[in-house]
Amino acid sequence: MSPRCVCQTLAYLTLSLALAVLNCHLATAEAATCSGIVPMVYRNDKISITDFGGVGDGKTMNTKAFGEAIYRIKHLRRRGGTLLYIPPGVYLRQSFNLTSHMTLYLASGAVIKATQNTADWPLIDPLPSYGRGRERPGGRYMSFIQGEGLRDVIITGENGTIDGQGGVWWDMWRRRTLQFTRPNLLEFKDSRRIIISNVIFKNSPFWNIHPVYCSKVVIRHVTILAPPSSPNTDGIDPDSSSHVCIEDSYISTGDDLVAVKSGWDEYGIKYNRPSTDITIRRLVGSSPFAGIAVGSETSGGVYNVLAEHITLNTMGVGIHLKTNIGRGGIIKNITISNVYMANVHKGIKIAADVGDHPDENYNPNALPVLKHVRIHNVRGKKVQQAGLIHGLKNSPFTDICLSDINLRGSTRRRNAPWQCSYVSGGAILVRPSPCADLIRSGSGSCPIH
Ligand SMILES: *[C@@H]1O[C@H](CO)[C@@H](O)[C@H](O)[C@H]1NC(C)=O
Ligand SMILES: *[C@@H]1O[C@H](CO)[C@@H](O)[C@H](O)[C@H]1NC(C)=O
Repeated sequence: MSPRCVCQTLAYLTLSLALAVLNCHLATAEAATCSGIVPMVYRNDKISITDFGGVGDGKTMNTKAFGEAIYRIKHLRRRGGTLLYIPPGVYLRQSFNLTSHMTLYLASGAVIKATQNTADWPLIDPLPSYGRGRERPGGRYMSFIQGEGLRDVIITGENGTIDGQGGVWWDMWRRRTLQFTRPNLLEFKDSRRIIISNVIFKNSPFWNIHPVYCSKVVIRHVTILAPPSSPNTDGIDPDSSSHVCIEDSYISTGDDLVAVKSGWDEYGIKYNRPSTDITIRRLVGSSPFAGIAVGSETSGGVYNVLAEHITLNTMGVGIHLKTNIGRGGIIKNITISNVYMANVHKGIKIAADVGDHPDENYNPNALPVLKHVRIHNVRGKKVQQAGLIHGLKNSPFTDICLSDINLRGSTRRRNAPWQCSYVSGGAILVRPSPCADLIRSGSGSCPIH
């Protein structure tokens, strides 16, 4: 090599190194966050629930106090909206509606608690994309906290608690005495610009947080707790919603931690509203069901989901993309990376065999389409079965790419091998070695990240 050449090479190496260091700095300095999707609004007008006769003794019903406070916010519309302060104490009440341009602020030690008197819980219409209640035909019970057609709502504070006291509802489910579908703890419907942060959600009767037909929803720094045995207590279910960002949260419940949905069979196909641009990051949790899930109700389609930096401990299924015959809908552009899991039955499951149908009128020819899935950098230990991917004969799953995955069994027992059918895509650096379908269909279309 000529001296000039050596010199150029050195200069090139130095530049590369500098760029690498710079890139590394940029990556660590700017961890991506949800902020910016919905700007935090500071509200000058502040009222306290105690101004309206609220009593935080855990016994007094505060239905009237909340009703009047929210009426005041709605009808005396102050510029920039109003903050409703909930001081420390336990405020019992029935289900209630929020209004636009409000902040519900729970002080440290503030608890808003649902009454256990289920008899006078109001019934509301089923969601059009479900056609009926999710678990019982007909209407459904109104969510404990409901927001409908709202803009600019913030639920935040100093990690106060919203407690659904779901035990009475779980018992009705177990005894099969439920007449209608159980209430969610918090639902926003047809709403936009919502922030939910620094709140603890506890013992939801059914799903915990359900944004449906919404856009621009940020959920961060929340804790969601329900016993592993509590039925259907999903953590967060973005449903036919777009631009939903979930981060820095801890979820431990009796069902899926996060499940992205978009309506149920013929009703969801007709309503045709997808979930798009869903981000889930820095989530920690455990559950007997799934950690990161898409489905099983995906009839309006689910596009552009990014889940990263997920830590799962003691789970049924780590990553679960699920749908069914009759669902229709397209699930595509799903990227899941940097997942760590331990004590898991199944690491990764992608299948079209999950969930029941709303009625006999579902179309058995409405086959789901599932494609463009990237799962990379996944580590696991004590994983009983690494993975299973079962497409449909008449609608195989395509472009399913797995890379840099290592899912180990326990020290005493190797885990069960991968199982696949009707799937194509590729696999690079996957241990245990994935099924032949993925290896055979090649990795050319699956670039390494
Ligand atoms: C809640 O809001 C909905 C929709 O605006 C309305 O139909 C319902 O009557 C309200 N319920 C209560 C309990 O205020
Ligand atoms: C509330 O909880 C979050 C998430 O666990 C935590 O990051 C935050 O520091 C807590 N905030 C307060 C005021 O305690």
